[in-house]
Amino acid sequence: MKLITAVVRPERVQQVKEALFQAGIKGLTLSRVSGHGGEQEVVERYRGTRVIVEFHDKVEFKMAVSEPFIELAIEAICRGARTGEVGDGKIFVTPLERVIRIRTGEEDNSALTPVAPKTLTPTR
Ligand SMILES: Nc1ncnc2c1ncn2[C@@H]1O[C@H](COP(=O)(O)OP(=O)(O)OP(=O)(O)O)[C@@H](O)[C@H]1O
Ligand SMILES: [Mg+2]
Repeated sequence: MKLITAVVRPERVQQVKEALFQAGIKGLTLSRVSGHGGEQEVVERYRGTRVIVEFHDKVEFKMAVSEPFIELAIEAICRGARTGEVGDGKIFVTPLERVIRIRTGEEDNSALTPVAPKTLTPTR
């Protein structure tokens, strides 16, 4: 199990959500955050220059996924969030020790919905 944290542009949230749902990811948490991604603005002043470290509005997705969903989730986030310009965001993948579904007491993979990627049903 992994915890996938992705920081993306607010204007790409809808595309990321759609891509994640298409990939079969069901449980996720979304937060508005402020982030700094290395870009600096240099302001000329009367005496010397000043560097402003700016924070931008970003949206953070967090999702706990079972092994079969790790690559699917990463691909979906990239597909939804990428514009090709600097500041598209970042994905962090961290090991996840334990997950508990409060209602049932189920743990780990059984507590993640779903546990396996949906198999594509052939269209007739
Ligand atoms: N090393 C980091 N640790 C924590 N958060 C980060 C890190 N790098 C980026 N972020 C978060 O991701 C947001 C977007 O970062 P950004 O897309 O600028 O990353 P980048 O690595 O500088 O890529 P790019 O070269 O495309 O700008 C930041 O505003 C910040 O919230
Ligand atoms: Mg950056």
